[in-house]
Amino acid sequence: MLGLEDFIEEAVEGMRERIPGKAIIACSGGVDSMVAAALASKAIGDRLLAVYVDTGLMRKGETEEVRGMLEDTGVNFRIADAAGEFFEALAGVTDPEQKRKVIGERFIRVFEREARAFGAEYLVQGTIAPDWIESGDGARATIKSHHNVGGLPKDLGMTVVEPLRDLYKDEVRDVARALGVKASERQPFPGPALAVRCLGEVTRENAEVVREACFIVEDEIAKAVSAGKMEAPWQYFAVLLPTRSVGVQGDRRAYGKTIAIRAVSSVDGMTATFSRIPLEVLDAMATRITNEMKSQVNRVVYDITNKPPSTIEWE
Ligand code: XMP
Repeated sequence: MLGLEDFIEEAVEGMRERIPGKAIIACSGGVDSMVAAALASKAIGDRLLAVYVDTGLMRKGETEEVRGMLEDTGVNFRIADAAGEFFEALAGVTDPEQKRKVIGERFIRVFEREARAFGAEYLVQGTIAPDWIESGDGARATIKSHHNVGGLPKDLGMTVVEPLRDLYKDEVRDVARALGVKASERQPFPGPALAVRCLGEVTRENAEVVREACFIVEDEIAKAVSAGKMEAPWQYFAVLLPTRSVGVQGDRRAYGKTIAIRAVSSVDGMTATFSRIPLEVLDAMATRITNEMKSQVNRVVYDITNKPPSTIEWE
């Protein structure tokens, strides 16, 4: 890669030449799309529109966090509130691959609508080198389709511009720092978001339960890490199981939902080992989940399988 300043200058200059009209970018808040948006905004100003699609399946506080990042970066943006149509499209869908398909298609519809309303002729994407190097060998069986909702098909009728195509992740992070872009340094998060952490049908109610449980898991791990009790796992979250079990609440029988906690160490997500979380931290998570979500959850289990044979997500 060129020096940082040179790279930024060339990328901005290149986009200024290549984009004579209006452009749109789907911004998830991840570092790649945020950096691509920041560069494009430097090049064409308000002829760029960054769109963040709120699917209703994001983590707690995520939409507000992304809004803050976009505001700080000074990019012209819009938050498309599409939760209603995502839940509608997901009604009755229980198969994991079908969920991914429904979410991917819905995302494209929302994005197309936004692009048309803005009059965009250009599509800026935060594609980085591993995205195109690793895809498309066709030789491996699809275990999960890993549809990344940030990655849009190229047949949307817009000219695609990919300013980060030659960069690797660490280089994108360097550019982010140089541009003062505060992209999320959070753990990896799947494109289909909380939908693949609600086993069975995704309803608003289920999404709310898993969102809160994920928040508690993240919060307790953050506390334990800052207290020096453990190292941060590579990825950690909660999963809502489609299984109810019997419990007691006061002196009454309860029949509540089950949450599984998943935490793994990994380098690239291809293989993973379950994290040896201290028991007191697991205890704190289980206690908090069952106290704060008393009316819904009465059992918490910890996933102790590695990848393979499991995968990291449960769907
Ligand atoms: P698995 O579950 O396949 O996950 O062991 C490996 C990594 O990929 C993430 N993941 C996804 N990311 N779209 C994505 O963008 C998906 O459909 C998807 N499924 C899993 C998972 O969170 C982990 O980091």
